[in-house]
Amino acid sequence: MIQKIDGKTKVLGLIGNPVEHTISPSIHNILSYKLGMNYVYVPFCVNKGMLEKAIDGARALNIEGLNITVPYKEQVINNLIKVTPLARQIGAVNTLKLTSGGYIGYNTDADGLNASLVKNNIKLNKSSIVIIGAGGAAKAVGMLCAREKCKQITIINRTISKGEKLADNIRQYYDTEIKVIGLNKIYNISPFDIAIQTTPIGMSPQILDNPIIDDKFYNKFHTAVDLIYNPRKTQFLLKAEKNGLKILNGFEMLFYQGVKAYEIWNDIKISEEILEDVMINILNQYR
Ligand code: ATR
Repeated sequence: MIQKIDGKTKVLGLIGNPVEHTISPSIHNILSYKLGMNYVYVPFCVNKGMLEKAIDGARALNIEGLNITVPYKEQVINNLIKVTPLARQIGAVNTLKLTSGGYIGYNTDADGLNASLVKNNIKLNKSSIVIIGAGGAAKAVGMLCAREKCKQITIINRTISKGEKLADNIRQYYDTEIKVIGLNKIYNISPFDIAIQTTPIGMSPQILDNPIIDDKFYNKFHTAVDLIYNPRKTQFLLKAEKNGLKILNGFEMLFYQGVKAYEIWNDIKISEEILEDVMINILNQYR
């Protein structure tokens, strides 16, 4: 995608394991191409036990920007000189920027989701939100909902104790009202506004799975968001759509978390026109 690699080409990359299915190289390489930046973005599959060596090596090679994905988003914090307050609250880092003393850690997942919600006219402020799941992805979602001053959060999770832990973590920073209920107790949930599905249930190749099969659940709210982007419509979104709800998948969150990382690395703000163009390019590539 870059025009040429020469002596001035800078490397950006993604550290994780596995990394084969990532679409981050497309996002960043198309951005560099459209912005005329001499960068190349590559995936690095780092084996268990090798993260520290990988970060040290990246620093020695002057790799200015890195994304971090599963399973290293929490562990990488030990290898950084500084972490932003938001990344500290979420307890996970997905973006590193090189400085003279080492890497600084950021988390762009929450802001990526926020950008995607804003673009699609979905307002967290003053809304009652149900978060399905209490894993790593749910942490960023919960912190974002609280930061945006939502009215109330209900965490639905299979393991109640994990839901309670997430609620306590959010309460450390915000005084948002938070309830936790088990996945098997959703029949008595009160009406709310937006459900955000954060578990891997329904993700390809398990596309027929759905964390919530009870039809009555889908009469209680108006907007369903699923962080999964493959398939484009999970069973959760299909059921929501069938019930007349507004739906949004995780593609734009993924896109905007990448854009935010790119903006951090280059200290720039990318225009909406360029972003639209890049997004269409990527959607065409994966159609
Ligand atoms: P991630 O970091 O991607 O969010 P995770 O930390 O493994 O992934 O969390 C996965 C979430 O999906 C958890 O909330 C998990 O529920 P538990 O806390 O009970 O483990 C939920 N999850 C995963 N598979 C599930 C399943 N088959 N049924 C119900 N919940 C499931």
